Amino acid sequence: MKLHEKMNQYLANQQVMYMKLHNLHWYVKGHSFFTLHAKLEELYDQAADIMDEVAERLLALGASPVANLKGALAIARVEELEDKPISSTDTVQKLIKDTEFWIRDTQEIVSLADEAGDGATADQFNGYLAEYQKLLWMLKSYIAS
Ligand SMILES: [Fe+2]
Repeated sequence: MKLHEKMNQYLANQQVMYMKLHNLHWYVKGHSFFTLHAKLEELYDQAADIMDEVAERLLALGASPVANLKGALAIARVEELEDKPISSTDTVQKLIKDTEFWIRDTQEIVSLADEAGDGATADQFNGYLAEYQKLLWMLKSYIAS
């Protein structure tokens, strides 16, 4: 997949993730409700920021960012959740799995950007990579016994 196409898929994945994080924010149950409810709000705000930055980077590169949900769902790879209660433990497990996905997917874009000689895009996504790596460490620490 070429860089711009992959960035558009990344944007679509963030759009789906934005809703998925709201799903968890609303449906999480159990002993860690208050902690996770607040953390999930922080994460969907972060997804919204990334979404905007990736779309605007695509525009700066002369490409067209996907800006409709139907189009986003057609190219996204992130799986949505059903509208039903989910335990605190399952919520964290799902977040860990998704964060591992984001790390792989972000690394792929950094590689494509490097190959294309696009240092600014590589820098932008390296910033996201560091955030996701930090989040993964924190999520794993949260459930460690
Ligand atoms: Fe809320």
